[in-house]
Amino acid sequence: MSDERYFVVRGPVEPGDQRGRELGFPTANLALRDQRGELGDGVWAGWAERPDGTRVAAAVSVGRRPTYYGADGYRLVEAFLLDFQGDLYGETLTVWLGSHLREQKAYGSAEELIEALAHDVQETRDWISGHPAAALPALGTPPPDGEVRRVG
Ligand SMILES: Cc1cc2nc3c(=O)[nH]c(=O)nc-3n(C[C@H](O)[C@H](O)[C@H](O)COP(=O)(O)O)c2cc1C
Repeated sequence: MSDERYFVVRGPVEPGDQRGRELGFPTANLALRDQRGELGDGVWAGWAERPDGTRVAAAVSVGRRPTYYGADGYRLVEAFLLDFQGDLYGETLTVWLGSHLREQKAYGSAEELIEALAHDVQETRDWISGHPAAALPALGTPPPDGEVRRVG
């Protein structure tokens, strides 16, 4: 049992701009069908679950990538999986957003964004140490792709 509450978003991993690789933080991008909803923009610590049930710690961005797209971008979920290497394209990921770390920000340079991402990763490590994957609440029937479910 867990007394924690999570937002859960699920969907197939879509190709991104490949910029994440250049920054050193490749992300698995998921479409958000729910463009308004109760899940606001921000950066979260959580877990990403693969189809085989493996759970990988993730620093997750929900928003419009304001550094690159101003306020005009479309909202999406981008998960950077910690200590993971591999190709996730086409795989369906279930992403658990557990702790809201900060708001989205438009950074002045790629270097500043990279610095912020490194800090997000450290905060995610701190959070997962107290919130192991085994303690996630049961999901039940998964939400439709791209829709946000509140769990717990
Ligand atoms: C943990 C995390 C936090 C992020 N925070 C921000 C942010 O505050 N501002 C922003 O413009 N983009 C943010 N991003 C999104 C990056 O800009 C994006 O991942 C990068 O541009 C690569 O995009 P791509 O996957 O389409 O290649 C964040 C991404 C992650 C994984």
